[in-house]
Amino acid sequence: MNAPMHPMTPDAQGIAHAAALLQAGQVVAVPTETVYGLAADATNAEAVLTIYTTKGRPRFNPLIAHVASLAEAQKLGEFSPTMLKLAEAFWPGPLTLVVPYCGGDIIPDVVRAGLNTIAIRVPAHPVMQQLMQAVGRPLAAPSANISGRISATQAAHVLADFNGAVPVLDGGTCTVGLESTIIDGTTDTPTLLRMGGLAREVIEAVLGQPLAMATTDDVAGENRPKAPGMLLKHYAPNAPVRLNATEVRDGEMLLSFGFTPLQAAAKFSLSPTGNLTEAAINLFTMLRQADATNPTAIAVMPIPHEGLGEAINDRLVRAAAR
Ligand code: TXA
Ligand code: MG
Repeated sequence: MNAPMHPMTPDAQGIAHAAALLQAGQVVAVPTETVYGLAADATNAEAVLTIYTTKGRPRFNPLIAHVASLAEAQKLGEFSPTMLKLAEAFWPGPLTLVVPYCGGDIIPDVVRAGLNTIAIRVPAHPVMQQLMQAVGRPLAAPSANISGRISATQAAHVLADFNGAVPVLDGGTCTVGLESTIIDGTTDTPTLLRMGGLAREVIEAVLGQPLAMATTDDVAGENRPKAPGMLLKHYAPNAPVRLNATEVRDGEMLLSFGFTPLQAAAKFSLSPTGNLTEAAINLFTMLRQADATNPTAIAVMPIPHEGLGEAINDRLVRAAAR
């Protein structure tokens, strides 16, 4: 509760301050184009442990290592020709690649939760890029929300979630709004572990083949999920979420999508024109805003299952799981 309730500004001074805190082993919330991350020096085991305790995250759930470039990524992971192709096509950007770990003792076990693979991403956000240059070390960062709750796409979300107890570097509203798409490159056919801010079709077009699909929704634990964080219940607001709503019931708050007669009743339109990129940017903010009105339920209109709609629907199904 000792950090100020206002974020650090994304200028040279703010970035230098955030870099100094990270180098000193502190946890800092940082902007990326997908969602805000709760970052720490990935080479410092104690600093990384603070991420888990701050977020209330189970230790078995590994973290993504964020680096400034593909060259930096190759110091930590082995890239097959196929993974190189994806990295070259989409980095910097909203794509995380899981590859065999080859960094020796650079990255402590706690980042990878003991796995012999590592999840790596090169974020595109200009403030994050400058920060990574200034820190000069990989940054471990999960999404900057309390474990199991809605991800943060604005500095104000992070301040609210952690009661100002975590310093935040402000980078504005995230321009993608959904977490990165995660691809496992250690299987014969690259496997989609998590749908996200880079649409499946776009990746498959570069690969020239369909991605394999991971079974990630087995909460019973018979088939342990491959991305250990992909439990069904996740992104949970306080209010129940009702999907594919075609009418608004008493006491509900509506999240509309596209031009609709229901729009009059909706305070929150994910995209009035039915644009999925816009809906992705608005999704977590509007879920938070709708939840703050204490409705009997958050009713969400149907979202098409194409492009970014796949990841939006994935998050909504998890938000609706009880
Ligand atoms: O967009 C994003 O990916 C954001 C920003 C901050 O970069 N980060 C993010 O981190 O969403 P997190 O921790 O909320 O989700 C990372 C997911 C988890 O489901 C975790 O289990 C999975 O990545 N993961 C991490 N390392 C892995 C590995 N070696 N193998 C398989 N899954 C892994
Ligand atoms: Mg998360």
